[in-house]
Amino acid sequence: MRFSPHLLDEIRARLPVSQVVGRKVALKRKGREYAGLSPFKIEKTPSFFVNDQKGFYHCFASGEHGDIFKFVMTTEGLSFPEAVERLAEEAGVALPKAEFEDKERADERTRLLALMEEASKFFEAALAGASGTEARRYIEKRGLKRETLATFRIGYAPNSRSALKEHLAKAGYTLEEMTLSGMLIAGDDIPVAYDRFRHRVMFPIGDAKGRIVAFGGRALDPEQNAKYLNSPETPLFHKGNLLFNAHRARAAAHDKDRVIAVEGYMDVISLAEAGFDEAVAPLGTALTEDQLKLLWRMSAEPILCFDGDGAGKRAAFRAVDTALPHLKPGASVMFAFLPDGLDPDDLVRQQGPAALDGCLGRARPLVDVLFEREWAGRDWSTPERRAGLEKTLKALIGHIEDESVRAHYRQALGQRLRAAWGEPQEAQWRGGQRDGGGQRSGGGGNRTGSWPRSGVPNARGGTSGALRRGAGGRVFPPSLGQSTERVNPSSSLRKSALVSNDGPQTAHREAVLIKAVLNHPWLIEEQAEVLADLPFTSSALSGLRDAILSAHALDNSLDTESLRTHLNKSSVGKVLSLVERSVSHKCDRFAEPQAGRSEVEDGWRHALAMHERHVGLQQSLEAAERAWHDDRSEVSFARICDLKRQLEALSVADVFDAAADAGRTS
Ligand code: UTP
Ligand code: MN
Repeated sequence: MRFSPHLLDEIRARLPVSQVVGRKVALKRKGREYAGLSPFKIEKTPSFFVNDQKGFYHCFASGEHGDIFKFVMTTEGLSFPEAVERLAEEAGVALPKAEFEDKERADERTRLLALMEEASKFFEAALAGASGTEARRYIEKRGLKRETLATFRIGYAPNSRSALKEHLAKAGYTLEEMTLSGMLIAGDDIPVAYDRFRHRVMFPIGDAKGRIVAFGGRALDPEQNAKYLNSPETPLFHKGNLLFNAHRARAAAHDKDRVIAVEGYMDVISLAEAGFDEAVAPLGTALTEDQLKLLWRMSAEPILCFDGDGAGKRAAFRAVDTALPHLKPGASVMFAFLPDGLDPDDLVRQQGPAALDGCLGRARPLVDVLFEREWAGRDWSTPERRAGLEKTLKALIGHIEDESVRAHYRQALGQRLRAAWGEPQEAQWRGGQRDGGGQRSGGGGNRTGSWPRSGVPNARGGTSGALRRGAGGRVFPPSLGQSTERVNPSSSLRKSALVSNDGPQTAHREAVLIKAVLNHPWLIEEQAEVLADLPFTSSALSGLRDAILSAHALDNSLDTESLRTHLNKSSVGKVLSLVERSVSHKCDRFAEPQAGRSEVEDGWRHALAMHERHVGLQQSLEAAERAWHDDRSEVSFARICDLKRQLEALSVADVFDAAADAGRTS
């Protein structure tokens, strides 16, 4: 049984961990956390902590770590669905009935998918038939090729309120099913239910596997209010997490390592005709976070195409905000702006594919577009306005979740400001202290915004990324002023024996997870999300994981053999053979080819939990390191030592697990 992440988040949001835990453990507030005696181990001094903001509890005595669901499961012996059910009730969150009726829901989905397929065939036939004359003429006028009609399965919805309804009824579908699928409009105030799409050119919308789940219809009548009409949200179709043409584009995107997002269906189709098979579009709305994540699965730097006009700029600016929190090292978006007044379809038809290639080649990085949005076209001649701009930029940078990307944005935007204003801003941007010679950067003191190019060289010879010592010998990180932003611990701290790197246990666990996926490729489909987000400490294994996900994106029916062949051809072949040859404990048997499905599922869940616990501890350790970096206090130091002990204990627990497992299975 699966619960949507959204549902789980909703429950978590309503139930503070301290409330759930507080029923079992007497908690005392300690700063931002609560502390109490461990419910997992007998102890005299509290080493059990709850952090409501993070949504986690952590027990330093036993290494137990988790959220409210995990707590109820471990302390009350409930299964995950039971824990969800119980906490949902307590939180006053209604569980969708469907979550409990998997079988029924699966049957319903199957019926609805078949209905959509039937509708699509009906529209295709109508386009070819007698009623399709006007639609055919329109399509011809727009210059679409015959093959394109077949590839995209373009059709025509006849100008009738009941043509589709009657056809589907003959095919055995009920009015309820037609309404549920979004193809029929019905309601208490509507005496006779009628076809939603009438006299429109129909574009089927496929899901990730290419199964038709919705339609977009373009009006043939220019008087029609809605030029495009889309299917409503249905059990099959959630427009925010699908992209038009994604299932066709992903192979091309993989080959070219590029994906292009445009605005409209016709843009995607025209681009495909012009040889750009790697194009997708959102479904009549601005790009959502989910859609961005889909794009990032196809390429590390998707190119978003926008009209060059004001509306296009505004849409691009909105996309900046959507992307900002989710930027990761190496993963961003690029912005291509088309000549004013032309959409991608117009551009390739009027000026040919090369013109579009040119535009894509001139695509600008997100940091440029962000800076332009905040800076261009205004008068920045007073200190107060400049300070205001700095403040705005700092706040925006604060939205970036990834720490290292955030640090680089601070640096990059600092450079842009210095270049734009033609002044040495560095001292101010870096917390007041300066080291080295004060050589001035060039420039004539720009007062108003005109586009400064990216990649302005650092006037101070590239020292801005380095840590330096300020007054009193404290280490200052490169930052946008002395803001509340926290930064990575110094590299010397990282290297010290105190916080040395993760041990071989971790890499082993990561290798086992990968091995399981290789030997049981069905896990990829089921666990794609989890797999993609797994934080790996080994970059080699992380690379292998990415290669597996890409191979899967290309072809989701790969078996172990073909997956291996595919991976061996790429640069990850060496890691692959290391993983395959890695010795396995008995408790890792689930990862071996002969393991049965339920053994794989259990083993995977367990290994994942161990890994997550480890990552949780690692994160606490990093937080403790940051605290130490800030305050150099005994308390922080003690916490670091404690966490290190926990991490070691966890590695030992791994070995014990192996032993216990051996006892159980033999
Ligand atoms: P556009 O208005 O830019 O249309 O809408 P277009 O793609 O250039 O289409 P043609 O060339 O006039 O046929 C872009 C996208 O916005 C959504 C559709 O998804 C469309 O593809 N849209 C537009 C709607 O959902 N409803 C509308 O009324 C208009
Ligand atoms: Mn158009």
